[in-house]
Order: sequence, then C-alpha cells, then structure tokens
Amino acid sequence: MGAERITRRAAISSATGLAGLALSGAAFGQGAGARRVIIDTDPGVDDAFALLLAMRSPELKIEGITPVAGNVPLELSLPNALRMVEIAGRTDIPVAVGAKTPLQRRLITATYAHGENGLGGAVFPAAKVKPIADPASVFIRQIVRKYPGQVTLIMLGPQTNLATALASDPDLARMIKSVVMMGGSLSGGNVTPSAEFNIYVDPEAARIVFQSGIPITMVGLDVTRKTALTDAHVKVLEAANTRVSMAAAKIARNDIDLNRKAGNQSGPNMHDSLALASFLDPTLLKWKQYYVDVETTGELTAGETLGYRPNEAGLRGSAPTLAGTKTSTMLRDKFVPNANVAIDVDSARFFNLLIGRLATKA
Ligand code: BDR
Ligand code: CA
Repeated sequence: MGAERITRRAAISSATGLAGLALSGAAFGQGAGARRVIIDTDPGVDDAFALLLAMRSPELKIEGITPVAGNVPLELSLPNALRMVEIAGRTDIPVAVGAKTPLQRRLITATYAHGENGLGGAVFPAAKVKPIADPASVFIRQIVRKYPGQVTLIMLGPQTNLATALASDPDLARMIKSVVMMGGSLSGGNVTPSAEFNIYVDPEAARIVFQSGIPITMVGLDVTRKTALTDAHVKVLEAANTRVSMAAAKIARNDIDLNRKAGNQSGPNMHDSLALASFLDPTLLKWKQYYVDVETTGELTAGETLGYRPNEAGLRGSAPTLAGTKTSTMLRDKFVPNANVAIDVDSARFFNLLIGRLATKA
C-alpha cells in the first residue's frame, strides 16, 4: 500500500493486527511476555516518534529511557524525552540522565535536521516529571544486573551511555540480551561521505559496543533512507485526534516544513522509529550477517562502519594491519559475524505499523 493510501481504518487495523494484541490503554507496557528494553535516545524528531511508538507497543516492557547528547545538547534531549513520556501518559517509566559529551570528542549536533529544539521547532510545555537520581550508565548496569540475559538496549543516538556502562563493568556485556541500534551504514554516510550521524558523533563508543560480543541488530542508513514521512501520514495522525497522534503530527508538520526550507524534497526519514519497529516485527526488513567494525582514527573517515563478509565480492576478510585488534584475530581465523544488518525494508508495512499505532485511541 502506498503511504498516501493509508486510511485511518487501515492504519488502526494494522496496529492491532500485527501481533494480534488488543491495544487497550491498560495494555500498554503490560503485555503478557513483554520484552524488557531500555531505550537510549537523543530526541530528535525521529527519536520522539520512536519513543511514542515504543510507549504504544504492548510487546515492550520499557525499563527506562536514557537520553544522551546528540541531535541536540543534553539540556534539550533530556526534557524532550520527559515531554514524550508525559504526552504518552507513561510517567511510570524512569528517565535517567545520560552523557553530556562523547567519550573523547566534542559534541556535534544535528539541529539542521531536527530544529534548534530537537522537535522540528514544535513547542510543548515543559514536562513536570523529573529524571531519576542515578545517571544513565549506572541505571543501565542496575537494570541489566537485575534481569541478566533479559534486557535489550534499543540505541537511537550516539552510544556513549552504553559504552560508559560497559567500560565500568567488564561482566555487563554477557548479561545484555541484545542491542538494536539505529546507527551506521554500509552504503555511505549522512554527515560525511562515509559516516552516519550516531556513529560519527561518538565513534569510540560505537567501537566499544560493536566489539563487546553483545548480539547486535544494526538498522542503518541502508534502510532508514527509505522511510520518508509524508503529508499523508500527518493527515492520518491529525484525523485520529488523540493526545499522542496530535503531538506526533505537530512535530511532523514542523519538521517537514524545516526539511522543505532546507531544500529537501522529501523527509524527514523515520530512522529511529524503523529501528524500534524492527524489534517489534523483524519481518519488516531483510537481513544479512556481517562483522561490523568502526573507523576511529581516520582523519576524514572517522565514524565509518565497515561490514566484513568474507568471500563476498572477492573480500577476503582482510583486517586492519594493526596488531592486536579484535577484528584482526576474528576475521583471520574464522568469520564470526557480530551483527545482523538490515539490507532492505518494506517501507509501506513499516508506516502502517508506525502511523497505525500512533493513531490508535488509548
Ligand atoms: C540518526 O541521526 C539522528 O539525526 C537521527 O535521530 C538518527 O538517530 C540518523 O543518522
Ligand atoms: Ca536519534
């Protein structure tokens, strides 16, 4: 179905039909067998959509949200996350304050795409709910240790918080069920010719995550570039006229305008919502296994993600020549993938899920 042909009824039936779950208000966040997640995020327009989608998805038990500096400084990404929690009526979800800066580099933001306030310029009242006292990296450790082997980290921004948690607790990686990330690209970047924004902002953190041994799902620009939000989607949200749908529509309208003023014919892309949706329904995408590593020292290529698949296109799995890197050993001896990488997406089905859930009455 083309995006422009989404009707409210189709959107809602998609929302309820995907997992056969009734989306009553009481069900949000309490679905039987719901999977434990922490959402690490830098809202951000597409982050805001991803958060709202997550909070409308009964398959998820959201243990917490950990805002980080990225699209906008932490002084804005944190209150934006708190706003989304309030708009969704989910003030039961703890929000823990994340890193203000990348591990080693100065912060680069993306206000050109998300507006100065991170929400496309859409203004909402300040949230009344406050963050918890523990910082994000401590909170991540606590929750993972409380539920070893059960928690998936959904990473929608620079990966500083998780990298900090992993560096402070050597046993943590093996207790994390998986990481699902919007990050990276095997087909060129969006900040530099080679680097995608989330990885570019903190390549050292991303390298720690990719080399951690945690099973990784990578939803990168290869697929997220195919997810442009349109006026037709916004109209469905407006017609639904709920608190969540109207907030999403307001953010979308502002950011679509911002995109047009910047000379882009389409967009914004729903990068982070697609990563979140991939966890809800992996059949929305096609996948291939790679060993992914991150360039951290390149003067022009820092933040590039390289996907190794020996024997593909003549690639022998040759690794960086520096002795002692994990990449080198793993690829030389035997191909051991570390990431399931999305290589294609059914964009129409994705938008049916996203818009459908955001338009559903609570
Ligand atoms: C990623 O960077 C940010 O601008 C978006 O929120 C998304 O996480 C896309 O490159
Ligand atoms: Ca983001």
